[in-house]
Amino acid sequence: MPFPRRPSAFLRYLLPALILTLTFYILTQTKGLSSQIGPLLPAVSWKHKNGSNRHPIDKLVKKADEEFSSLISRATSTLEDAAAAYRKRRGRHPPPSFDKWYEFARQKNAIIVEEFWDQIYHDLEPFWALKPAQIRKDAREFEMRIEIRDHKASTRSDWFWTQIWLEMLQTIEHLLPDMDLALNPMDEPRLVVPWEDIQGYMRQAAKTKTMEDPRGVVSEFGKLPLPGKETLEEEAAPERIWEHEKHYWLIARRGCAPDSPARKADVVTDFNRTPSIASSFDLKHMQDGYVVNYTLSTDFCHQADLQALEGIFVEPLSVSATRSLLPVFGGSKLAVNNDILLPAPMYWNEEERFTGAEGASIPWESKHSSAIWRGVATGGLNRETNWRSFQRHRFVAMNNASQLALAASGASPPLNFALPAKEYHLAATRSSSSSSSSSSSSSSTNSDLTLPGWLSATTDIAFTDLMCAHDGFWPGCNYTDAYFAPVPPMPMAEQFRHKLLPDVDGNSFSGRYLGFLRSTSLPVKAALWREWHDSRLVAWKHFVPMDARFGDWYGILEYFLGCEAAGVPGRDGVAERIAMAGREWAGKVLRREDMQVYVLRLLLEYARVVDERREKMGWVGDLLR
Ligand SMILES: *[C@@H]1O[C@H](CO)[C@@H](O)[C@H](O)[C@H]1NC(C)=O
Ligand SMILES: *[C@@H]1O[C@H](CO)[C@@H](O)[C@H](O)[C@H]1NC(C)=O
Ligand SMILES: *[C@@H]1O[C@H](CO)[C@@H](O)[C@H](O)[C@H]1NC(C)=O
Ligand SMILES: *[C@@H]1O[C@H](CO)[C@@H](O)[C@H](O)[C@H]1NC(C)=O
Repeated sequence: MPFPRRPSAFLRYLLPALILTLTFYILTQTKGLSSQIGPLLPAVSWKHKNGSNRHPIDKLVKKADEEFSSLISRATSTLEDAAAAYRKRRGRHPPPSFDKWYEFARQKNAIIVEEFWDQIYHDLEPFWALKPAQIRKDAREFEMRIEIRDHKASTRSDWFWTQIWLEMLQTIEHLLPDMDLALNPMDEPRLVVPWEDIQGYMRQAAKTKTMEDPRGVVSEFGKLPLPGKETLEEEAAPERIWEHEKHYWLIARRGCAPDSPARKADVVTDFNRTPSIASSFDLKHMQDGYVVNYTLSTDFCHQADLQALEGIFVEPLSVSATRSLLPVFGGSKLAVNNDILLPAPMYWNEEERFTGAEGASIPWESKHSSAIWRGVATGGLNRETNWRSFQRHRFVAMNNASQLALAASGASPPLNFALPAKEYHLAATRSSSSSSSSSSSSSSTNSDLTLPGWLSATTDIAFTDLMCAHDGFWPGCNYTDAYFAPVPPMPMAEQFRHKLLPDVDGNSFSGRYLGFLRSTSLPVKAALWREWHDSRLVAWKHFVPMDARFGDWYGILEYFLGCEAAGVPGRDGVAERIAMAGREWAGKVLRREDMQVYVLRLLLEYARVVDERREKMGWVGDLLR
């Protein structure tokens, strides 16, 4: 009988035939098949050179979860534990009134993890090397001040920032000892003490770290004479020189170590050209093309190319800097600045234009799967001869689909950004290179599969004002008009309708960041500026960090939003989880109450370091019982 009777024999013939047919089908239909099953698979757009399909961001997100769990596991819940954590981390007794600070923090339901105050110690430690009388004198003679006497804070300045800071201090003045605070009225920070000098101060300061016998500890702060009634102190006033060099890189880099790239690299003086941009794969704060150490990413000492990629280094609006260590307080600073950080006035004020009010709670599901950015062309004074080196100009241009199309086709090389590096294996660039083999016009007919098409579908990024150097041309700007079309401003609440919120530095830090964190959208943060809250936030847990060159931007965009045309799904769940974790955490540790607790701790420390008896001062209530 030609026809096999037993089913097993039937299968013996049929199975190989089926397999052959299927293989043939797969071989001929790969493209169609993969685009059909694409959305079901985890995105396979990224492939490590060792063949692993695991996206590097998966690993960073996992690591951040662990880092955060370990951070909150160190929270303390008694005064004794908080004091013990203090002594262990700081090597000194806590300052006088530590018990009152603790009580205040508890009343405000603050989470108490000693690391949250690391910035204070970073900022104040070098002052332990200066004579207290000299610090007091420098504060007293500074142009703008808040004075605290007998638990009352006051100022003779009506500058709006000082007024806001005054309002903040008045909420805790009943707990504050006498002191004078010098305040920076400018956007830009004021101090860059040379690296070599800071090392010397730190060595001297280390010698003052002692754990005094509790019985000998002074637990009261001293009193100060009324402002203007001070007796002349003997300290010869060292000369204070203010520099106004607009090429701030020359000033900033002296805060870096002598063997650092920032100190050794050639200084760029011609900004009238396309800046060179280092590969984001070779930098030591990056891992597989993404930021692995956010703190390090904000330090420019190993990133000499940033001298031509950030407005602050090229031409800030104003510069008034000194190499002397003075007790000047301000709202944000670069890694090398020695200013003492306070929460920025706009954070305390909670201005609606920075918070977006009720828009902040739009549910994730009802948001557009896209990234939005609106802003002014700040960063410094942009001019015809330097604008290509400004960070906001770079970010807006690299998100402009038509500029990308021109650059990708080779018709016109990018003026101020780099095309995505091949190492990112972006789905959008893969598709466009495979379709461009037939003809160069196919990229425009099949634009959904190209980088520009993908960008215009997922981003909405534009300037609202070009901040032109030539007055008479408002609102246009004859040197940037050809590249940027300003659009009307959009209220923050409206921006919160989009899932991704990239955030890029302006003249200094970006004031909308706190509003972004508190919202239900996901902030993607590229920054060189440091703020009071940095040690409370964990990158990849509460926000997405981005390199200052923005080379990782397209990869971040693809990871979270996907590339529909190429069948690569976005990790919408991961994006939502980080957005919500950031919002929840901001509601616990970035409240106005947390600013009060921070400032109270800061000013108790400051009042001790300016006191003649500082080495004997402390709170030892727990040790005397
Ligand atoms: C490949 O490299 C990635 C990134 O370094 C790593 O996470 C992964 O474990 C490696 N996979 C293999 C199969 O070696
Ligand atoms: C990140 O970089 C900083 C230096 O800025 C360093 O102190 C810290 O140890 C680094 N963190 C990790 C996890 O490597
Ligand atoms: C823009 O206008 C200014 C001021 O009138 C002029 O000096 C400059 O040459 C103009 N630049 C261009 C590109 O037209
Ligand atoms: C995008 O770039 C083109 C020039 O390539 C420019 O005409 C257009 O105004 C830009 N769009 C935006 C929103 O800046």
